[in-house]
Amino acid sequence: MTDLKNDRFLRALLKQPVDVTPVWMMRQAGRYLPEYRASRAKAGDFMSLCKNAEFACEVTMQPLDRFPQLDAAILFSDILTIPDAMGQGLYFETGEGPRFKKVVSTLADIEALPIPDPQKDLGYVMNAVSTIRKELNGRVPLIGFSGSPWTLATYMVEGGSSKDFRKTKAMLYDTPQAMHLLLDKLAQSVTSYLNGQILAGAQAVQIFDTWGGNLSSAAYQEFSLAYMRKIVSGLIREHEGRKVPVILFTKNGGLWLESIADAGADALGLDWTCDLGEARRRVGNKVALQGNMDPTVLYANPEAIRTEVKRILASYGNGSGHVFNLGHGITPEVKPEHAGAFISAVHEFSGQYHQ
Ligand code: CP3
Repeated sequence: MTDLKNDRFLRALLKQPVDVTPVWMMRQAGRYLPEYRASRAKAGDFMSLCKNAEFACEVTMQPLDRFPQLDAAILFSDILTIPDAMGQGLYFETGEGPRFKKVVSTLADIEALPIPDPQKDLGYVMNAVSTIRKELNGRVPLIGFSGSPWTLATYMVEGGSSKDFRKTKAMLYDTPQAMHLLLDKLAQSVTSYLNGQILAGAQAVQIFDTWGGNLSSAAYQEFSLAYMRKIVSGLIREHEGRKVPVILFTKNGGLWLESIADAGADALGLDWTCDLGEARRRVGNKVALQGNMDPTVLYANPEAIRTEVKRILASYGNGSGHVFNLGHGITPEVKPEHAGAFISAVHEFSGQYHQ
């Protein structure tokens, strides 16, 4: 394994000094890039991109080739690979997002769910990780990821995306023990899946809790954060002689930053509704912060984008412990040049905060 040529992303996650603030974008490989759309057309569909290591590697590299200032690569895959490996039958209907052939509705359905083996059942993801690591050749670190148990449960119980999580919330309040069994199985699955990614070469991991912010404070603690804490305590935290930082991203979790900061992770991902400076004061020295420009700022002109980057850098202030990112994934309608303006602005304007 080669040494890293650019490790400022890993250093910032551990609050070690850096020359400029590192930057990457959630969903940086995706439909806003014409080269991604061409690869997807060649592969046939989205899941074929994920299941073929060469394709997954090709699309992971596309944003790095276009924007050489990116400080991290993220594995090209999806959070729904775990429910698929549990036998739910994932498919994508164009324009409608993810769907499952089987839906989880009863305690018996939950009891029947297997815990996937990362090598046997998700070997295609492990192959993608090792193929991308080889191709990166130490250029930047590779991020592995998974969904949080709660977020995965919403897709499994609803059978796809949902606006109000009606079935999942009904299950939570009607039969909390059944929900706990599902979340516990998912936490075991996520732990071994992320450890598999780390052993295959992922140098940091992020847990996407996209729908945790939709819970009441009490339910968030019991049904989302508790399981993320359990996962974090089971992860491999050092590999190849380096720390493997863990990032927890609860979208709309701004109310609970203090308790999320106590879950044992190295960094918290923030959406754009929190003020970064205030978040820094609230979490103190416990964790680094990642975020948090509103992704819709990328619809505005490059000058407006640069102004917003400067405002966010100033809000964090001096010193390490900040990884610049969007507050959620980049959307398909963004012009690639606008993403480029965002990425360059972070390095251009952040040096003054690291003297
Ligand atoms: O960040 C990256 O570049 C890595 C790739 C990545 C994808 N999905 C690729 C993808 C990551 C990290 C994800 C995570 C993911 N997937 C989340 C959590 C992050 C978030 O956005 O909150 C969720 C909730 C999913 C589930 C999912 N996958 C949905 C709801 C959809 C359809 C909606 C959409 O954006 O189209 C997907 C499909 C998907 N995953 C695409 C990509 C690039 C689009 C598929 C296509 O090419 O048509």
